[in-house]
Amino acid sequence: MLRIGPFSTDCRVLLAPIAGYTDLAFRLVCRAAGHRGLAYTELLHSRGVLEQNRDSLEIARVSEEDRPFGVQLYGNDADWFCRAAHRAEGLGATLIDINMGCPVDKVTKTNGGSMLLCDPDRTTRMAERIVRSVRVPITAKLRLGWSECRITAPRLARQLESVGVQLITIHGRTTAQRFKGAANLDGIAEVVAAVERIPVIGNGDVDSPQAARRMIAHTRCAGVMVARAAIKRPWVLREIQESLATGRTPPEPTVLERIRLIRLHFDLMRRYRGDRMAMIVMRGRIAAYGTTLGHVKPFKERVRLMAEPGDFDAAMDDLERAVDPQWHVVPLWAFAGREGAQEPLETAGNEAGV
Ligand SMILES: Cc1cc2nc3c(=O)[nH]c(=O)nc-3n(C[C@H](O)[C@H](O)[C@H](O)COP(=O)(O)O)c2cc1C
Repeated sequence: MLRIGPFSTDCRVLLAPIAGYTDLAFRLVCRAAGHRGLAYTELLHSRGVLEQNRDSLEIARVSEEDRPFGVQLYGNDADWFCRAAHRAEGLGATLIDINMGCPVDKVTKTNGGSMLLCDPDRTTRMAERIVRSVRVPITAKLRLGWSECRITAPRLARQLESVGVQLITIHGRTTAQRFKGAANLDGIAEVVAAVERIPVIGNGDVDSPQAARRMIAHTRCAGVMVARAAIKRPWVLREIQESLATGRTPPEPTVLERIRLIRLHFDLMRRYRGDRMAMIVMRGRIAAYGTTLGHVKPFKERVRLMAEPGDFDAAMDDLERAVDPQWHVVPLWAFAGREGAQEPLETAGNEAGV
């Protein structure tokens, strides 16, 4: 059981905040793929939330079907943070997360994101004010420190706990590292050991039930957060959760089930963001989804080149008709040499011969 202040859940797998990815449409896709745990919005500038600029409103879009969820805020001004937290609370957020790990220049140049790791005392004072400004739990997502020689996360995590922060997520890399190298499990373990009562969530390179077990066994963290693996395989969250809960990993979804999730994603984006945006986003995402489907190059190309939403539907209709319902990946021979694959193919194993 994961207890975060007054909120508790038996799901120990969290969908990470991922800028450009974890909008409402994608979070609902993860739910449809079986995710029951916390899911985060991408980072939102505390000032943008207050000024209600269009991007921030888009990112902060919520739905009753997406529960529990956290709104992640970044910035470096306690007043802005408190007022933005108040607004996020009004949206029904289960909790509010403070970004203390973003390495991107745009964020760190304004002293936000992982710059907050560099001055633990000031960051703690700011967090204390935010904790006091709302009723929902405040959580924080950290990297290990700015660089190898400036590891501050254990001390900062302990201080944040002492002022009422209810959960720490720790990405096992430094800011300087960005995404290089493997996540440092010893570093995560030090943060787990540094706090007394609150849960610590381990993050970094968790892409399977095995990786999640390794993270938990090595660090004694209370749960795991998944980012990049979920972009390609939204069902990985459920796989990990079920494996942790029961010791068994559920079967991978079939190609047909995956296609239905991709279609759901496109439909939700059309609903929430309009046709133009849905097409722009899906033209990019199809590459990531495609890697899980196997040899579907002609269909990826059709999606990439779509001129209107109907082109996406037609490509998916053709793909659905052409795959064997038992397949977990499309084999190499299925569409070999069929650039465009406009016509459904006859495939071995597809008795209907479509
Ligand atoms: C494209 C991209 C965008 C990200 N955006 C955010 C963000 O908005 N807030 C945040 O705290 N972390 C963000 N992260 C970091 C992830 O949440 C996570 O800490 C990191 O990817 C390590 O987890 P993974 O190995 O499961 O991907 C982002 C990562 C990526 C790759």
